[in-house]
Order: sequence, then C-alpha cells, then structure tokens
Amino acid sequence: MRVIPVNNYQEMSDLAAELFIQEIKNDPEVVLGLATGGTPEATYRSLIQKSQDLDLSRIHTFNLDEYEGLSPSHPNSYHRYMAERLFEPLQLKASQTHLPRGDAADLENEAERYEQLIQEKGGVDVQLLGIGENGHIGFNEPGTSFTSRTHIVDLKPSTREANARYFEKKEDVPNRAITMGIASIMDSRRIILLASGERKKQAMAKLLNEDKTQDFPASILQDHPYVTIIADEPALSAVSFEKGEPAAEYMADQREWELR
Ligand code: PGA
Repeated sequence: MRVIPVNNYQEMSDLAAELFIQEIKNDPEVVLGLATGGTPEATYRSLIQKSQDLDLSRIHTFNLDEYEGLSPSHPNSYHRYMAERLFEPLQLKASQTHLPRGDAADLENEAERYEQLIQEKGGVDVQLLGIGENGHIGFNEPGTSFTSRTHIVDLKPSTREANARYFEKKEDVPNRAITMGIASIMDSRRIILLASGERKKQAMAKLLNEDKTQDFPASILQDHPYVTIIADEPALSAVSFEKGEPAAEYMADQREWELR
C-alpha cells in the first residue's frame, strides 16, 4: 500500500480527482468504482470542475452499495446521491452508471445480477473507497468474510448512527443494505482509499499498523497489489510510520510511504 499524505480534505480531494482524470485519459473505456458518504463529495466536485475536456462517453461506473428498500428517486438513496453529485453534472447516460437496486423484489437475485454485470463490463479498473470508523469498506461490516461477493448486510448500529446525519430521523436509516463484497472489491485492478479527519485516525492506525483480520474489513487491502491511500494529517495522526517515525515528521517530508 502506498500512502500519500496531504494537509487537508481539499488537497486529498483534488489529488483523488486528478488520479481519476489520469485514469480516464489513459483509457476512455475505463470502468470506475465509486463510493458515497461524506469523504468523496469534494472529489466529485473537483472531478466535475476538471473534466471539461474529457471524453466520458465510454466510461462505466459501478457503485459499492445501496440501502435496502430505497428506490433510485428516494432522496436518501445512493442512486440520488450519485445522480446529484456526479452523474447529472457530468451528463453521463443512465446506461453508463450502475448501482445495485436496494428496492429489487429479490435482493439475492439482484446481488447476483450486479456481480455478473461487473464481470460483463470487464471488472472495475479503479475503485474509490472511503473507510468506516469500524473499518468497513462498502457496507462490509466487521466479521464479513474476505471471500464475500455482492450480498445483503445488516448494518451495525454504529454505521446507522454515522449515516443518520443524512436522514431526517435516525430511525429512518435502513437496517439493511446491498453491497459489493470484499472479494468483489479486491478484484479491482487499482484501489484509491481516501481518509480525512480525526474521526478516521484509529481506523487508519489499524489499517496501516496492525495485522489483517476479518474484524477489520479494510485490513484485507494489505494483500492488494495496487492500493493508493490519500489521507490528511488528522487522519494519519495516530499512525506510526516505519521505524517508529511519528506521522508529523513523515508529513514534513511529504514522501510517499510504501508500507508493505
Ligand atoms: P464517510 O463514510 O465518508 O461518510 O466518512 C465512509 C464510510 O463509511 O465508508
């Protein structure tokens, strides 16, 4: 895993957008894996600003997850989140953008359909990830099998709590979701994980300083050959760098840090 330390949320977001633009320029048919939540919002804004001269007509996008029971037009659905923050501003066609349907009559079938669709499009080339405070990636909560494919999950109370800010009432946060599995995420050719803010510092310390365990889903990324972590100073503030170097000294150097 390669860590690129940056000073703040905006720098993280601009850099992530830049990496995505490079990917699109290198391959106009690139398949992008996208994420929702607070973390990627400014990345999407930056991508929109920088995308004027890009040919986006042949890209495809796959999102990680969707809440159970919410239709694409529901204001809290991830379909809506993506439409507003990225797909409509970029004028992507509906046929280019893919999310699992949380309102499918048969969610098990939907999970299989989604997994197959990703394969049909050739797999995800570059997957954007946030990280939950409990180490979840997508909605893969602690304890999820590392071999999981797209599946239905019960959301942990801590995750529902963290996401309640988007809903009118905490009780409105759905109890279940459909998410790409950990093995599906690991199939991506490249992964860019973003982390910003003090709220993520324990998660980053576990990811970067502790061993792989199913109790901390993101730790599987230690086994992926091509992970780039872009994280800001507060998010890295509890990480011990190689040879016990504290994060602050490491940050002063602005080196990229090859962890494993
Ligand atoms: P956040 O969520 O970007 O809203 O912090 C990240 C996640 O839970 O994966």
